Amino acid sequence: MLSLRLPIPSESVLASVMQRPPRFLNARNQTHLFCSPTLSEPKALQSSTPQATAADVVTREEEEELNDGTTPPEEELPEGLRRELMPKHVAVIMDGNGRWARQRGLPPGAGHRAGVESLKALVELCWRWEIRVLTVFAFSYDNWIRPKVEVEFLMSLFENVIQSELDKFAREGIRISVIGDWSRLPESLQALIRDAEEKTRKHSRLQLIVAVSYSGKYDVVQACKSIANKVKDGIVQVDDIDEGLIEQELETNCTEFPYPDLLIRTSGELRVSNFLLWQLAYTELFFAPDLWPDFGKDEFVEALVSFQERQRRYGGRK
Ligand code: FPP
Repeated sequence: MLSLRLPIPSESVLASVMQRPPRFLNARNQTHLFCSPTLSEPKALQSSTPQATAADVVTREEEEELNDGTTPPEEELPEGLRRELMPKHVAVIMDGNGRWARQRGLPPGAGHRAGVESLKALVELCWRWEIRVLTVFAFSYDNWIRPKVEVEFLMSLFENVIQSELDKFAREGIRISVIGDWSRLPESLQALIRDAEEKTRKHSRLQLIVAVSYSGKYDVVQACKSIANKVKDGIVQVDDIDEGLIEQELETNCTEFPYPDLLIRTSGELRVSNFLLWQLAYTELFFAPDLWPDFGKDEFVEALVSFQERQRRYGGRK
């Protein structure tokens, strides 16, 4: 199992994809490895003509099997972006709503409301550009200590957004998943989330993962508890515990692409703030100076261009 995780040359990964190994033996592990090699090749070795990549092979196959029929026209990418180097999974820490509001003499809620518009625009771009997973940090477990009025505002904002966007998301083939400790959320919000997840469960065009009451440390703790219980019940042996097993117990087990290729944090803060700690191990980081409500298409393109210029080596040499 561990050997699957070691950096391996892209040639051998591509060869193994072409042989089509049995799918979903551990689909999430496979995808992670399939996604990486396109980006780990030195620029000099990359052909100027776009080639089918390992990631493409998986995507087409998935698409045929899982697409619910929503097939938007293939969209030209903005200049400077290469389709075969697009990240599969983008994660975002949407920071700066409060400052955006303060700069305008408004309460924090106005910033969060403006933040929703930025989020909707980003979802649209990911959908159009065929990014498969977008994970956004909407409310950290550590945010529960904020003033009650702000917390209540955010909870009702989440409810309103789910209610107002669900039909559109469903029409567009967007799957909604929510990760985090739901137990502290209002019952009414929990019910809406359950409904949204259920209604969009089969969609595959884009998966929008919303982290609410989420903390990376909490995620690792709940995974440890679950594995400990399985050991206690004799379902798992201690020697079976490896990275793959832990990965399966993390909340990101809701997606086939649990490892973000790119993490964007807005507002100029340079930290990951207890977001996807395990999952970010080899994620490329991009810190944007803009406050979240000001983060739009141009800023997203800049982050993607920066991502596409990087070499991902996963600890290896090329
Ligand atoms: C951080 O800004 C942002 C949040 C805590 C909330 C983000 C929520 C949204 C953008 C709404 C998303 C809605 C849905 C349905 C997912 P901050 O308030 O910490 O900003 P500051 O650091 O400037 O104070």
